[in-house]
Amino acid sequence: MTPPRRNVEIKARDADPAGTLERALSLGATDQGVLEQRDTYFGRARGRLKLREEPEGATLIAYARPDQAEARTSAYRLAAVSDAAAVKEALDAALGTVVVVEKRRHLLLYENVRIHLDDVTDLGAFVELEAVAGADSDLTSEHALIAQVVEQLGLGEPVAQSYSDLIQDTPQALLQAADAAMRNAYAEYSDFKVGAALRTPTGAVHVGANVENAAYPEGHCAETSAIGAMIAAGDREIAAVAIVAERLDICPPCGGCRQRLKEFAKPDTPVYLGRPGGPVETTSMAELLPFAFDEGSLA
Ligand code: THU
Repeated sequence: MTPPRRNVEIKARDADPAGTLERALSLGATDQGVLEQRDTYFGRARGRLKLREEPEGATLIAYARPDQAEARTSAYRLAAVSDAAAVKEALDAALGTVVVVEKRRHLLLYENVRIHLDDVTDLGAFVELEAVAGADSDLTSEHALIAQVVEQLGLGEPVAQSYSDLIQDTPQALLQAADAAMRNAYAEYSDFKVGAALRTPTGAVHVGANVENAAYPEGHCAETSAIGAMIAAGDREIAAVAIVAERLDICPPCGGCRQRLKEFAKPDTPVYLGRPGGPVETTSMAELLPFAFDEGSLA
């Protein structure tokens, strides 16, 4: 397989887009014009998969990068798409659409640094810097260049999440995923259908439903199914949890599932209990399972 392309990138909210533009131009960046972009993110991907539509054409983009605020490396693959509508329908049918991000991007170029002055629908103004890396680069010069442009543009507090996460990172989006899984639950004996959705730090969403059995104790919970899906997909970390039950407005996870979730969550990981469009109770892993037994207890 050909190695992915890489860049070093960073992003921050932009309180003064006009001032940032002025500073970028006086730094010597060249103005490459404004791009109208619509990114459709698909589900069940390792890392992220999105179809980028622009007036000039469409590109399928697969990429992975850590959710950290500091300058980080993104590894990505690009594939030109000639029939965007058909590809979007096929991927939506197979994988499901997670979120659509629309933005107006003013692009400037300074050496090999792309400066993005983004106006993102529902999120507002951001500035994003991407230093495109050479194939054999050890990324030292890209990091140095990013640090220089950060300094000269006076970039604010960096933002770790992607636009898709900022839009998606709502209880509603995750509750919807849990609700869809809940409809497939196999709850022949209790008639109590439950669905769970787990979001990972890279934005993937894994879902599960309860699976019962004629030998009652062999059944298992929605949360446990979702953890199985997450592990099988190669993920190891839970950034947010949603749980939906058909016949209970707020369904607290059982004790066993609290312990299983704890294995992959942080104390402040949010847990959303409710249903899409209904009342939602937001709690956290630490609230659900204080004084937990964990790997530290074994040490
Ligand atoms: N159940 C879950 O799936 N998750 C929970 O946290 C609570 C209970 C399921 C297990 C069983 O299939 C049904 O709900 C009734 O207990």
